[in-house]
Amino acid sequence: MAQALARLDAQMTEQERGIFIVFEGVDGAGKSTQIDMLQQALAEVGYQVVTSREPTDKEWGRKIRQSATTGRMPLADELDAFIRDRKQHIAELIGPELQRGKIVLVDRYFYSTIAYQGERGGDVAEIEKTMREFAPIPDFVLLLDADPDVTLPRITDNRGGTDEFEHVASLRRIRELFLMLSENCEEVYRVDAHQDINALHLELLGLLCEQAQHRERAADETDTTCPFRQGNSPWALFHARLSKYLAPSS
Ligand code: TYD
Repeated sequence: MAQALARLDAQMTEQERGIFIVFEGVDGAGKSTQIDMLQQALAEVGYQVVTSREPTDKEWGRKIRQSATTGRMPLADELDAFIRDRKQHIAELIGPELQRGKIVLVDRYFYSTIAYQGERGGDVAEIEKTMREFAPIPDFVLLLDADPDVTLPRITDNRGGTDEFEHVASLRRIRELFLMLSENCEEVYRVDAHQDINALHLELLGLLCEQAQHRERAADETDTTCPFRQGNSPWALFHARLSKYLAPSS
């Protein structure tokens, strides 16, 4: 195993492309905790990891966050703001970091727009079509699925209250839209976020490890038209490093 890993490490060239992982879920599902834990695990096995979130801390993202406390924008303006924020995020951070071969972990992406703005009355199919036209598809979307009746009290306890985006009836419908996406989109993986934090962390690592092995075997680099996806397949190394991390003695 150690020899195989050294060989794979040696093969890692500047050409190796990055890996793009997105976390989705209703507010309070535990995304930020899991992102921190995954970042640490991936750094431990030798990856350079960048984390980010949407809405971002740039101009449009700040405007959106502000609206959560001062009053939501009309749907069309809100959609427009999320799209502008995302385009800037892709151009300035996601794209360049993937091209540098980093692992990029993002807290929310266009699946949130489909679920949240879809819940507000936006046309779900139309939003998804618009997003897929400009936004690179992640390698993995990890949907931390949880019941808002369980997660909402967590938000209220931890952050001292909810905001305009967080009403339980809306969140139930948002959860349903996320679940629909996990059934229809091959890149979206649903995991049960009601479980213990460490158990969930291990499940996510196991899922990534297993899927990396499938992809390595299939060698299905079907998305070479995306400029961020050119370069050697990262899956053999990713699988080798994660399996060593999960079973260090073997
Ligand atoms: P988030 O960062 O999860 O909230 P917080 O800063 O409180 O942790 O995101 C703020 C809200 O924005 C969240 O309730 C979900 C919502 N959102 C959308 O409605 N559409 C989107 O496209 C995205 C990315 C987020």
